[in-house]
Amino acid sequence: MINKSWIVFIGAPGCGKGTQIERLVKKNGFGSVAVGDLLRQNGNHVVPETGQTVAGLMNSGSLLPDGIVVGFVEADIRKQVDNGKRSLLFDGFPRSVYQAERLDEIVANFDTEISVVVDFVCNEEILVKRILGRFLCPGCGKIYNDFFSRPFKDGVCDVCGGNKFIRRNDYNELSLKKRLSEFREKTAAVIDFYERKGILRKVDAAKNVASVRASVLECLGLSEKENV
Ligand code: AP5
Ligand code: MG
Repeated sequence: MINKSWIVFIGAPGCGKGTQIERLVKKNGFGSVAVGDLLRQNGNHVVPETGQTVAGLMNSGSLLPDGIVVGFVEADIRKQVDNGKRSLLFDGFPRSVYQAERLDEIVANFDTEISVVVDFVCNEEILVKRILGRFLCPGCGKIYNDFFSRPFKDGVCDVCGGNKFIRRNDYNELSLKKRLSEFREKTAAVIDFYERKGILRKVDAAKNVASVRASVLECLGLSEKENV
């Protein structure tokens, strides 16, 4: 049973990190540090290094400068720990070796450890379909897909009954191309970083949502209904 440990989910855009985390938060009691969401909440913030807004950089598919990201992450960790969360899932952080090194320092300051890093392995053909078909309910955050997981009733959210859906601005072919190249150039090295530490576990993220969940739970040493 996991006790006060932090877990990193890593993988290319569209591999299914958010889909798995949504359930781990709701059913298993994890806190999540979802960097994309933190940045979207601060979309108007101007990034001094480039003079562009956070939203502008995200929409282009570029990674944000490390400094601003680490600042948002540290503040969110503090908030979650103060709210009593012991087991945290990191979604979209670290995405560069610099960020991974900063996370090591943060972990030490909080007197905890990263127990496992789950690498969501998925080929690009599937990623493209997942990304171009993705939409979500803004009311409850439930993620859907035109090709793989539509709501049971068209136009109505399965979870909260909402009838409006949104598609993210970075879910288009141009932005996706940039996001995939950023992943290859900057984030792939983070996978090696954790492999060398001996805490990396790989899951086949091309499988369906339930199979991926089973593999993820196994990596975390949890059973289906166990809470952290
Ligand atoms: P972020 O919001 O983190 O996006 P991402 O990692 O690029 O990934 P997505 O959220 O697009 O995909 P996901 O893996 O969560 O998959 P999902 O579950 O949605 O980051 C956005 C941007 O923020 C970055 O581009 C960058 O600009 C900035 N940023 C973020 N972190 C940063 C950092 N650390 N440093 C610098 N900049 C940073 O699933 C995708 C679709 O597939 C859905 O439609 C879903 O229904 C479907 N699906 C999921 N699993 C399955 C399955 N098993 N079978 C079939 N369909 C599935
Ligand atoms: Mg996501």
